Amino acid sequence: MARETQFGSVGRADDLVIGGAGFIGSHIVDELLERGRTVCVLDDLSLGSPSNLASLAAGSVDLVVGDATDPETVDTLVRRVAPSRIWDLAVIPLPRSLRAPSAVVGSIVGIARNVAEVAREHGPELIHFSSSEVYGSAVGDAMNESHPLAPRTPYAAAKAASDLITQSYVHTFRVRAIVIRPFNTYGPRQNWRRDAAVVPRTIRRGRLKLPAQLAIPGTQTRDFVFVSDVARLAVQLADRGPLDGTVVNVGSGVETPIADVVGAIARGMDVGIERIGTRPADVTRHRADIGRLRSRLGDPALTPLDVGLERTIDWYSRLDDDDARSAQADETARSSE
Ligand SMILES: NC(=O)c1ccc[n+]([C@@H]2O[C@H](COP(=O)([O-])OP(=O)(O)OC[C@H]3O[C@@H](n4cnc5c(N)ncnc54)[C@H](O)[C@@H]3O)[C@@H](O)[C@H]2O)c1
Repeated sequence: MARETQFGSVGRADDLVIGGAGFIGSHIVDELLERGRTVCVLDDLSLGSPSNLASLAAGSVDLVVGDATDPETVDTLVRRVAPSRIWDLAVIPLPRSLRAPSAVVGSIVGIARNVAEVAREHGPELIHFSSSEVYGSAVGDAMNESHPLAPRTPYAAAKAASDLITQSYVHTFRVRAIVIRPFNTYGPRQNWRRDAAVVPRTIRRGRLKLPAQLAIPGTQTRDFVFVSDVARLAVQLADRGPLDGTVVNVGSGVETPIADVVGAIARGMDVGIERIGTRPADVTRHRADIGRLRSRLGDPALTPLDVGLERTIDWYSRLDDDDARSAQADETARSSE
């Protein structure tokens, strides 16, 4: 049975960050606080953690633990917080959509609907997070925002649907929104337990001196972008506008084979590499065309991949060995589900 959300003494804030205890969301919170804004986070902690919000201890952020798929929770919170902006980052990770497609599709689409509804009803601006996964594999070279939507997984299809829902509320109800479409984001605080992405999964295995795993063929490429860059650019895009429903890619514009990233981490952590099977419906090529991002913000200063990977490995090296072991056990338990 669903638990009742505890709103406690939560009061007004400039920004409501849904999914703000997660990876990218917690970096958005940091960016907003640096700009002197007040922040409330709604997160069900299914994957996120209060430990991602250093600002909680300082009392500069309110955290409400609740389910954004529940329309009443979102509506009640927005009435209390009265934010001028809502950030929609709550998501269930892609790999789970391969095991539990119905739950993942229902959740992603339900959250987009609830957030669009409160934006319509109460008028805050909406910063909706999409994903480059909506494009599927590249038809040509770099993908600009007019690349066909060809999602290959239920996760990606639900993300595409949630982008379209957001845009429909812009066109029909004059909701003010922007759709931020990040490419493969990596960096500190990314989930390294079950359903981890390639960078944190490889680092976790390296910590435990297990060989890195490379999904064959390894030539599949991604556009990797460091999380602090994504957070900074997203906040700048929100500030700059226009909030007319436009999609903006956030990536590096550089395509890197997965084998290179896995190889760099394996070398840095002094472990070997083992080849494993292909992920179902994996995409083969991803590189962002960031022309629109440039036209809005100028040439972005981006963290080079080798520097970002070093910072990321360094951050994970400060976590407990026990944490690494329990994360590994978590994945092993899930993979035998
Ligand atoms: N990480 C990437 O490489 C990447 C790339 C492109 C797009 N994105 C998008 O960026 C956004 C954030 O992704 P992330 O990587 O930070 O994910 P994450 O899993 O780290 O964070 C998502 C957060 O949402 C929370 N959450 C999930 N379901 C919820 C619910 N029903 N109610 C409330 N909270 C809920 C989780 O606990 C978690 O804290 C997502 O929209 C994702 O699609 C991520």
